[in-house]
Amino acid sequence: MAEAAITPAVNNLTLSDKIPQHEFSQRVLIRTILTRPDGGAGLANQTLKVGGWVKKGREQGKGTFAFIELNDGSCPANLQLIIHSDVGPLGQFTPTGTCLHVEGVLQMPPEDKQGKQAIEMKVVKVLDVGSVDPAKYPLPKTRLTLEFLRDYVHLRPRTNTIAAIARIRNALAYATHTFFQKHGFLYVHTPIITTSDCEGAGEMFQVTTLINEAEKIEKELIKNPPPTQEDVDSAKSDVKAKGEIVAKLKADKAGKPEVTAAVVELTKAKENCSKIEERFKLKPGIPKKDGKIDYGQDFFARQAFLTVSGQLQVETFACALSSVYTFGPTFRAEHSHTSRHLAEFWMVEPEIAFADIEDDMKCAEAYVRFLCQWLLDNCLDDMEFMVEKFDKNAIKRLQMVASTNFVRLSYTEAVTILEEAVSKGHKFENKVEWGIDLASEHEKFLTEVKFESPVIVYNYPKGIKAFYMKVNPDKKTVAAMDVLVPKVGELIGGSQREENYEVIKERILEMGLPLEPYEWYLDLRRYGTVKHSGFGLGFERMILFATGIDNIRDVIPFPRYPGRADL
Ligand code: 4AD
Ligand code: MG
Repeated sequence: MAEAAITPAVNNLTLSDKIPQHEFSQRVLIRTILTRPDGGAGLANQTLKVGGWVKKGREQGKGTFAFIELNDGSCPANLQLIIHSDVGPLGQFTPTGTCLHVEGVLQMPPEDKQGKQAIEMKVVKVLDVGSVDPAKYPLPKTRLTLEFLRDYVHLRPRTNTIAAIARIRNALAYATHTFFQKHGFLYVHTPIITTSDCEGAGEMFQVTTLINEAEKIEKELIKNPPPTQEDVDSAKSDVKAKGEIVAKLKADKAGKPEVTAAVVELTKAKENCSKIEERFKLKPGIPKKDGKIDYGQDFFARQAFLTVSGQLQVETFACALSSVYTFGPTFRAEHSHTSRHLAEFWMVEPEIAFADIEDDMKCAEAYVRFLCQWLLDNCLDDMEFMVEKFDKNAIKRLQMVASTNFVRLSYTEAVTILEEAVSKGHKFENKVEWGIDLASEHEKFLTEVKFESPVIVYNYPKGIKAFYMKVNPDKKTVAAMDVLVPKVGELIGGSQREENYEVIKERILEMGLPLEPYEWYLDLRRYGTVKHSGFGLGFERMILFATGIDNIRDVIPFPRYPGRADL
């Protein structure tokens, strides 16, 4: 694909003799040495500094020198260091996990070792050491399972796998911005805290300070018991008495200083009284009104949530700036313990004005294919690692997706295919009939068994989709589309949006949703309505698809799922 020819600046390596110093730290990136076309051989005899963490270290020659594999995360490959014992205490440098910042001379390895590495470094000076007690370091050099590593989310970036995934994730984010910017989309930051439920599925995390406020008050009242009714009455009589003094002084035409002093006293008494009255009103527990929680007293003076999707808000910008996208974290309080669901995940959501469902599908396909080609062009070393360790088909899959048109099927056709499969003896756990929401096993059948390719299913029954989707002329289906891919199932969900005011209002009511929180959304249809479409790509699902990793918890730096939110 022509678009994918753009190369990130970070990968612009040329075979110059002088290695570029990293501009913002005191070393060169190991990548700039090892990923040159000559593997770094042309840099022999250069003196430079590198820094990184020891992958493996071993003393040799009866402790006269040590070989160390150093990795700084800039690429999957390690730079081999040779340190002689006159440089420093070797035992301190070799444990896995040790951080080393060293100066050395690049040299060609001895002839019998040259197949493995084109260049290595003879260390002349150790500048800094971050040492490790090998008896205590939780990530020894033996191979650890991804599940085990989830208990060490703060250290796991040091493993080859999590580091490779991090680089792939970074590349996909860069590719995402490149794709949309190149096609004239503007990046819009939609809110994380929201008061509208986009999917209407009731899976939102609530944002409230009522609970911590209640706890604070409870603690406060124990420490400082609240005033009694007598305290309030006595403060009130004090105000009354001080008021009478002022009134009397004024009536007696007393001197100004005398009146002023009495007024000061009165003000103090009033302040004291309102403080006492306020504390008297403090009640432990969550504030209630008419038997329900009083959100009027909450931080935003109304109920608020973490967003499940930036779509509704990004539509406001699409209906003004035409082509926009948002890319941010989204949150769903689903109690799914599957390998495809997170409670916090990232979504890329373009929204296009003057576009129908056909345009939407075209955009989704072009974007996914662009991402695949990008990884082939820019992350081949990390992808090769994935192929070797996790999924032998990972690169083939990217090549296939980058180069083939996606299959398109209407929902009705998809159900017919599934029914045919059942009639030929294929067993599904979930029943197949028109009107069902396709289960993950159905999606996998379509994309992995039947077509062995990404599949876009469109025109779903309106009963199983969100209120904002465009109702088709048949009144039974909506202009929704899901992109299904092998390994993952649903990667993208999108639709043409209902732009007709009357129809969308009716749909909100039909779904049993309140109109009031959506009035602003209806305004987009009341004033200057426009045909528009968009979709959401689950960013972690894209990484699963690309890498072949099995569990979504391993492709996000800090996974959040029922029962776990470490760090
Ligand atoms: O299909 P969904 O729910 O669509 C929306 O939220 C639309 N508002 C998007 C839009 O039209 N702008 O979610 C979109 C994608 C899914 O296809 C899936 O890839 C991913 O988000 N996704 C999840 N990923 C990880 N964990 C979860 N719990 C996910 N739920 C959805
Ligand atoms: Mg969906």
